[in-house]
Amino acid sequence: MNFRFRRRFGQLVIIGTVTSAFSGITKRTIAQTKRDTPSIAQGSESSSIRLRVNGKDYPLQIESHVTLLNTLRDRIGLTGTKKGCGCGQCGACTVLVNGQRINSCLSLAVMYDDAEITTIESLASGNELHPVQAAFIRLVGK
Ligand code: FES
Repeated sequence: MNFRFRRRFGQLVIIGTVTSAFSGITKRTIAQTKRDTPSIAQGSESSSIRLRVNGKDYPLQIESHVTLLNTLRDRIGLTGTKKGCGCGQCGACTVLVNGQRINSCLSLAVMYDDAEITTIESLASGNELHPVQAAFIRLVGK
């Protein structure tokens, strides 16, 4: 009985020492990581790019962390491309880049320098809406 108690006590002391040591390492690692990692605001650099959207050129100075979706909506003013989920699940932000469908919410604008981008705004023909545009209006209008 006494032997079991001492053995159990020894195990607890070892566990406590190891836990304490790891706790110190973890705290130091987190603090060092925070100190060594620049925040997005501090670390973002801007680049000169040119997007060709719906046949029109847009020379832009853009920060490296800005998505293509935000660039289209906030910088170029094409708000037909929507932000739904923001994580690649819904497709509301879909655009064509060089003929390929992409989720613009998951794409950085700087990746598409000189790319040919097609948004929903380009689908209309004159005053006539494309069937996709008409369907959106029907859905949203309800
Ligand atoms: Fe939903 Fe981009 S906003 S996939």
